[in-house]
Amino acid sequence: GRTAVVIPAAGRGVRLGPGAPKALRALNGTPMLIHAVRAMAASRAVSLVVVVAPPDGAPEVKNLLDAHALPERTDYLVVPGGDTRQESVRLGLEALPETIGTVLVHDAARPLVPVDTVDAVIEAVRDGAPAVVPALPLADTVKQVEPRAKGEPEPVVATPERARLRAVQTPQGFDRDTLVRAHETVTDDVTDDASMVEQLGAPVVVVPGHEEAFKVTRPLDLVLAEAVLARRRA
Ligand code: C5P
Repeated sequence: GRTAVVIPAAGRGVRLGPGAPKALRALNGTPMLIHAVRAMAASRAVSLVVVVAPPDGAPEVKNLLDAHALPERTDYLVVPGGDTRQESVRLGLEALPETIGTVLVHDAARPLVPVDTVDAVIEAVRDGAPAVVPALPLADTVKQVEPRAKGEPEPVVATPERARLRAVQTPQGFDRDTLVRAHETVTDDVTDDASMVEQLGAPVVVVPGHEEAFKVTRPLDLVLAEAVLARRRA
């Protein structure tokens, strides 16, 4: 089957500070979402991009996509999103045509992922993995804590062995039927799509991620993203 990408872009981006929904904020003059869509369309294997817009923002997002050039081979459509990322992804999956066999899910908030990472994820799915995540080793040591009210010191519960941890990025790639089944079955709150497939008991594998696939979350990330774009143009 063909390959489509669902891009959840319905988040408010509260941690980035006040302003437009995160995906619509500009990086070097172009909305983050447009960078993200182009990063996906850069892969020759991607034939369709489904953008999941803020619930009240689908017409605006459609206009935005119409106004920015994409490769001839790439179709796109826009659907309104939901209250959670998970719900937004599910709404995107429901819009996929029958012909799609491989689905990638990519955060609009990761606008700079290189095409080689996208292709590596797609290839691993086509080679038979039901779920594939790009990931990197961690620089920081990670502690599990007992959460406390804001301002109170939090007791440490455990320190997982850093060498066995990975920071997971997107695009995450899936056999379409597996991801649809995961969305039908798993109702817990999750922070990535692959964890829903893990809960089904299906195997999830990791391929190398990329530094430039970082998530634009806080104000400093905007500075970094614009610096990466400036270096690419130099
Ligand atoms: O909040 P977080 O950084 O995890 O969001 C990751 C991605 O999920 C972002 O691209 C955001 O726009 C999207 N999202 C969504 N619908 C929501 C919340 C987040 O599409 N209700």
